Amino acid sequence: MIRIPFLTRRLRDYSLEPLSANDSPAIATLHQEDFHRPWTDGEFASLLEQDTVFGFVARETGRRAQAPVGFVLARLAAGEAEILTIAVARAHRRQGLGWKLMDAVLRELHRERAEALFLEVDEHNAAAIALYRRFGFSEVGKRPNYYQSATGASGALVMRRDLR
Ligand SMILES: CC(C)(COP(=O)(O)OP(=O)(O)OC[C@H]1O[C@@H](n2cnc3c(N)ncnc32)[C@H](O)[C@@H]1OP(=O)(O)O)[C@@H](O)C(=O)NCCC(=O)NCCS
Repeated sequence: MIRIPFLTRRLRDYSLEPLSANDSPAIATLHQEDFHRPWTDGEFASLLEQDTVFGFVARETGRRAQAPVGFVLARLAAGEAEILTIAVARAHRRQGLGWKLMDAVLRELHRERAEALFLEVDEHNAAAIALYRRFGFSEVGKRPNYYQSATGASGALVMRRDLR
């Protein structure tokens, strides 16, 4: 039998919910996939216990009991917000999930009447930089040798988006 891949491929949909400290072990596992210095579940739990920190977790729709496939964590204090981290599991990328997670943060910040959103991103992280630029972030600074890894150091771009 001949298989036609585009007909058999299942389209995925995702639902988001607010992150809670209970999600810490699962999101720490996701974080390990991509970050040279992954954060532990204890670090995530203590961040999520802070009043200023919030985030969203994504699961495939209809698979509530399944492990998260993406998450975003942000902090809002005195009108200024920051993306602390965002990650989408490799098998779920380029399907609009990073966009959905960032959009959820922006909606929450608009509700809270925040003024600006900042983030730091590795200058070589083309995927994340493309995502942020599509959201209207622009570069406002650079921190040389900010990220250290086994292959050397790289700089961080500081990006900002006005929310007013
Ligand atoms: C960055 C990341 C969160 C994007 O998640 P994603 O679910 O794949 O992103 P989306 O599918 O929502 O993409 C939205 C847009 O971002 C841009 N983009 C995302 N991945 C891209 C890539 N690999 N190359 C170029 N542009 C990319 C595109 O403009 C894309 O829109 P399009 O698909 O219509 O072209 C994901 O690649 C990731 O988890 N990376 C590892 C962790 C990381 O680097 N986090 C950022 C730390 S600052």
